[in-house]
Amino acid sequence: MEKIDYRQYPILFVDDEEENLDIFSIHFKDTFTIYTATSGPDGLELLDREFVALVISDQRMAGMTGMEFLQEVNKGHPEIVTMLVTAYSDLDVLVDGVNTGTLYSYILKPWEVKDLKIALKRGIEHYYLVSERDRLHREQIETLKKMSRANRLSAVGTLAAGIAHEIRNPLVSIQTFLEMVPQKLSELRVTDPARLDQEFWEKFYSLSFNEIQRIRTLISELVNFSQPTPPDLITENISRVIEPILDLTRKEADKRGIEISYHADPDIPLIHIDVSKIKQVLLNLILNAFQAMPEGGEVRIIARSVHPRGQARTVQVVVQDNGQGIPEEIKEQLFDPFFTTQDPGEGIGLGLTICHQIMEEHGGEIEIKNRHGQGAEAILNFPAVKEGKAKG
Ligand SMILES: Nc1ncnc2c1ncn2[C@@H]1O[C@H](COP(=O)(O)OP(=O)(O)OP(=O)(O)O)[C@@H](O)[C@H]1O
Ligand SMILES: [Mg+2]
Repeated sequence: MEKIDYRQYPILFVDDEEENLDIFSIHFKDTFTIYTATSGPDGLELLDREFVALVISDQRMAGMTGMEFLQEVNKGHPEIVTMLVTAYSDLDVLVDGVNTGTLYSYILKPWEVKDLKIALKRGIEHYYLVSERDRLHREQIETLKKMSRANRLSAVGTLAAGIAHEIRNPLVSIQTFLEMVPQKLSELRVTDPARLDQEFWEKFYSLSFNEIQRIRTLISELVNFSQPTPPDLITENISRVIEPILDLTRKEADKRGIEISYHADPDIPLIHIDVSKIKQVLLNLILNAFQAMPEGGEVRIIARSVHPRGQARTVQVVVQDNGQGIPEEIKEQLFDPFFTTQDPGEGIGLGLTICHQIMEEHGGEIEIKNRHGQGAEAILNFPAVKEGKAKG
């Protein structure tokens, strides 16, 4: 195993005798990061505030016993490694604890510093291995999900290009025919007015024309999606892209009784973006937010710089709404082509698919999730350009 820095995995020691806490701290504070508490409830309270990898507790305490406390720790923080310090006379408690899986291990009193140090190290190593395994597992699942999404998208892309091509030609014929209708009608009006149902023809004509227009729009979206042009990247401050979009959408927002606002951290790093493609992404997300709030509401756009531990600096753009949120059962399908919950004829269901594609072209990511409280948020992550800060 690679070398573990034990100090990065804090230990909580619980004992109702202050003197024991002091002894423990004196012996182990050079090797480990140590928290102490004088009762189970105090210990639980600390766990809600602090990151702790291992909890070790004395069994005999006034009020909550050590085992009772560790059972609570297990419930609230199943990942924490638990150890019990006890006398030989409490053997039955130990057997119970080990058999039910509450305890990772135990130490008999009186303990030797050397033995306890080894036991604590083993406990932390166990925590490290398990959490590392879980992390890898989560990463694998994420990768698989991404791969299957990418596969679906590329299959649909090929299909879309084929269909678009096949539909385009017949559509031209139909459109040509329709364009002849007004001429033919006016001829009929002269030659045989009795057979002319003016109302029917006018309705039929405009309906067909509009429908064809819709198909044409759909086809050009499909083509854009299946044969995207490579992004034309420039180095830019994200605010320079967001601000014009706000002006563009404000009128529509007013009409819908929606307040739209923008908050940007100072000193946001620059990013490499294709301005027109990112505008398309933002417009899609804002429109989705509008559609999620038919009764009006609030859209907040936030730009901030985040720097997760061990990862590169990221510029995050968040579009928040306080609409109805996303039902659990459709979460996996949001980015699927043609997935829409809108009425037929209202949405195509390509908005988020295209956003996803564009973000991928930027080496970024998009995530959609529900907010605590109410509504949903779309989070865009852009890798920050190294060095150099944005001015505004
Ligand atoms: N902010 C949001 N709140 C709640 N649901 C959302 C939100 N954004 C997207 N959705 C859900 O995701 C679905 C897919 O969104 P997407 O933008 O891909 O398609 P659409 O908006 O239905 O149609 P299109 O964007 O092609 O006009 C929506 O129909 C909606 O059910
Ligand atoms: Mg949409």
